[in-house]
Amino acid sequence: MRPFPKNFLWGGATSSSQIEGAFDEDGRGLTIQDVVTAGTNTSPRYYTYLDRDGVPGKYAQFLGELPKEAKYAVLDGEYYPTHKAVDFYHHYKEDIALLAQMGFKAFRMSICWSRIFPRGDETEPNREGLNFYRQVFQELKKYQIEPIVTMWHGEDPLYLVNTYGGWDDRRMIDAFDRYARTILTEYRGLVKYWLTFNEINNTIMFLDLMPRELAARSAQSTYQQIHHKLVASAHAVKAAHQIDPAYKVGCMIAYAVNYPRTCAPEDVMAKVEKDQKIVHYCADVQVRGYYPSYAKAILERAGVKLMMAEEDKKDLREGTVDFYSFSYYSSACASAAEIREVSKGNFTIGEKNPYLTYSEWGWGMDPTGLRYALNMIYDRYQIPVIVVENGLGAEDKPDEQGEIHDDYRIEYLRGHIEAMGQALADGVDLFGYTSWGCIDEISASTGEMKKRYGFIYVDRDNAGNGTLARSRKDSFYWYKKVIETNGEEL
Ligand code: BG6
Repeated sequence: MRPFPKNFLWGGATSSSQIEGAFDEDGRGLTIQDVVTAGTNTSPRYYTYLDRDGVPGKYAQFLGELPKEAKYAVLDGEYYPTHKAVDFYHHYKEDIALLAQMGFKAFRMSICWSRIFPRGDETEPNREGLNFYRQVFQELKKYQIEPIVTMWHGEDPLYLVNTYGGWDDRRMIDAFDRYARTILTEYRGLVKYWLTFNEINNTIMFLDLMPRELAARSAQSTYQQIHHKLVASAHAVKAAHQIDPAYKVGCMIAYAVNYPRTCAPEDVMAKVEKDQKIVHYCADVQVRGYYPSYAKAILERAGVKLMMAEEDKKDLREGTVDFYSFSYYSSACASAAEIREVSKGNFTIGEKNPYLTYSEWGWGMDPTGLRYALNMIYDRYQIPVIVVENGLGAEDKPDEQGEIHDDYRIEYLRGHIEAMGQALADGVDLFGYTSWGCIDEISASTGEMKKRYGFIYVDRDNAGNGTLARSRKDSFYWYKKVIETNGEEL
């Protein structure tokens, strides 16, 4: 293990829809996340809508689709976990003070697009939304915590989704450009690090979670939407560099590590193809500025015809990122044969690995996978790298004194921090680590509160009951020490 660099950005990560709540306050518009109900590890989340005759309905995430002419809508009698989340909107001062107690150097958070442009197509931003994030950034500055700001963490304004049909439509690029320029201009001097689209590649992974026919039907739209997001991302990078040359902008990739299930050459090729498709396809464009050689084969195999405007190529070339950020939680195996035993992961699916142990939610725990990912990324691109999500989703049970002894979380994080130390020794230019969900938040895949990642416990349950009181878990004190000793005491 090599010592961590002096100014290493130790911290934690969140997203607006999973922590903020206040979904209808201070002029905020609805987002697509506001119409998704809660699920569990075994039952899906549902998207709710009104059909063309105004009749309420819902379909299961990854298993169904929106009926023609239906519009997404909030329905009476349904529970939507993002509406209140953990109410960071009203607790941000208290939360940031707790992060500061741990010695945080960085805090990753996202801006909710529809707080700034409630419908998405306005020409003037909502001042109250802009003010909220200004106050949050100022509060972070008070404690010298560097914000790392994600522009888009899955929160498309609902109006744009219902009106344009979302990212299939090129007009989303213009709407996003306006939003990106607004926040880049507004927060000059308060923010240095930006990420454009969270896990921009994850919708390709979603295809593997769908029944075959639905996946085949969805491929065209998936890749077209990604193309539009890649262009919007490139525009945002260009705009950032024009607006403030001190800005550093990164891509954000869900890094799903896959090992070949066996040393059979077919399994090795299955791994190579899976990596190209789900891990490298977007990052290659964002880092290098053009589609990789294998993209054509991927699109042809999926029966996709990408529509591109003439200027897109130039824009992609001119909007390459300054650094590579990614999420890493678990690994799985790729195989040329049908999956026999399913290994779940961060929106991924693969074959179980007999050498790993699994979390309560079935995700394979593999610290070495993080060292592997860091090496692969740096070897491929030679630009600075930061881990912006990593952690263990587990159920925490307070004891009689109300304390949480989350040694399982400490063990998971310790292994992954050690793996980062090894990657540093391997020569990787790693400049930070923001573990996922430093404050307990709503799970993205299941919508549960029970699946917790935080160092800070929030008293709230799956049905939305609880006082929202914050308390420190054992991992809080442990991580404080890790930061204090710059990763020497694990
Ligand atoms: C990533 C997302 O996919 O994984 C986060 O960027 C998410 O939004 C995190 O919360 C962990 O996943 P989950 O489903 O356990 O919340």
